[in-house]
Amino acid sequence: MTIRFDGRVAIVTGAGNGLGRIHALELARLGAKVVINDFGGSRDGKGGASSDAALAVVEEIRKAGGEAIANGANVADFEQVQAMAAQAMEAFGRIDILINNAGILRDKTFSKMEMADFKAVMDVHLTGSANCTKVVWDIMREQNYGRILMTTSAAALFGNFGQANYGAAKMAVVGLMNMLSIEGSKYGIRVNTLAPIAATRMTSDVMPEPLLKAIRPEQVTPGALYLVSEQAPTKLILGAGGGVFSTIRMEETTPVYIADKELSADAIAARFDQIADWSTAVPREEANQQVAVFVETAMKGLKV
Ligand code: NAI
Repeated sequence: MTIRFDGRVAIVTGAGNGLGRIHALELARLGAKVVINDFGGSRDGKGGASSDAALAVVEEIRKAGGEAIANGANVADFEQVQAMAAQAMEAFGRIDILINNAGILRDKTFSKMEMADFKAVMDVHLTGSANCTKVVWDIMREQNYGRILMTTSAAALFGNFGQANYGAAKMAVVGLMNMLSIEGSKYGIRVNTLAPIAATRMTSDVMPEPLLKAIRPEQVTPGALYLVSEQAPTKLILGAGGGVFSTIRMEETTPVYIADKELSADAIAARFDQIADWSTAVPREEANQQVAVFVETAMKGLKV
């Protein structure tokens, strides 16, 4: 089956540059009508409020025979985002796909990080993704169809030096996916997360030149497009970079019961190898499963 997006309407945030631009160009090439959102700021999110970057991408899409409109909303501003959804509905009459891609960086060690830089990064990545998702949510529910993509980062999933704000925000969007994939499932809404690696202005000075040539955004976008296609899975984190793809998930080891009479920090230390035995790890579909396993283990332990 060939993946196409004819008749579908997509919003791609931060689509004036980097990964978002390639996601948008490719969606349009495969038949989608695309809202190109970008507020036109610099890498740290300063100096925004210009839709030039978005307009340039719209121009590219139109020249190639596709349909697109530009939007200069700052995703962190709920009113601007509401207006973006209204603009999309007026132009195209529906919204099928949202790619939450807009992002900024304000890297510093936590010791040197101003809380204003912490908040600015949370505002764009987390609040921005929540804002954009909120304004399309009821539209998708009513349509009984929706595909939403979050964008996380290896920094958040696995840890990195000097990105406390970014790591916190990028992990938070995974939490948003976990909830919304469950809440959206009965309305045909599927929510996934992309963990990309690509040479863009965001990574231009953190990786050496030969490596940057090997990780083009064009090699990531097919992964993003699969996750917003009709056959998309839901609640999945896809690693994508340099034409390499993986899936990433949260797992839990088999829980270990320790009875009251021996329960102490020393008992945890003594059993820690067993508690942290990853060879026993399994994923959980929902929080209730973890609660059920804990209750069951505790009840069994009580009876022994
Ligand atoms: P980029 O800097 O090339 O593009 C980001 C775009 O988002 C820019 O055009 C910018 O103007 C726009 N933007 C920023 N704040 C905005 C706001 N408040 N409202 C609207 N637009 C806004 O960066 P890149 O690399 O293309 O990043 C795309 C996404 O992928 C980001 O969420 C980033 O955190 C994530 N990511 C990228 C990685 C990489 O290797 N390039 C690695 C992991 C995650």
